[in-house]
Amino acid sequence: MFYRFFPGVFLAFFLFVQLTGCGLWTKFEDYPCPNPDGKTKVTYTNFVKPFMTTYCDTCHSTNSMNRRGAPLAYIFDNYESVKTLKRRIFLRSAANNTTMPPGPDDPPETARMKLAEWIVCGTPK
Ligand code: HEC
Repeated sequence: MFYRFFPGVFLAFFLFVQLTGCGLWTKFEDYPCPNPDGKTKVTYTNFVKPFMTTYCDTCHSTNSMNRRGAPLAYIFDNYESVKTLKRRIFLRSAANNTTMPPGPDDPPETARMKLAEWIVCGTPK
């Protein structure tokens, strides 16, 4: 009995969360810089570049041998392109957003939090 009822409860909860706006997708407008001075020690050079190389650029770099369907407009192999695409990158991979990379080889949560912090605290180079 409980198990038949359970999916309905889950669905209701899911809809509630979606409708109240604290959804499963965090937008970067809804994620303030966690540091009081609005700055961060996370930089493109010390964190974001190696992060992109490890977790994204097998499919998203200009010279990827096998993009596996990653759109040509989404290239993350230099500072300018990552900065320009930060809104979409946030939605897919930062904070609690986990739809990129696809598959089980996901970056650890600490790395997603660092990526989020970099995006919302001024994307320093
Ligand atoms: C195994 C290959 C692969 C890896 C690794 C990968 N992606 Fe993707 N990416 C794709 C494919 C395929 C699409 C197009 C389908 C889709 O949008 O889900 C895509 C689309 C995207 C898009 C554009 C879609 C949109 O409008 O939101 C963004 C942004 C993105 N990926 C970010 C990332 C980030 C950031 C990483 C690393 C943390 C990453 N991806 C790692 C394959 C990959």
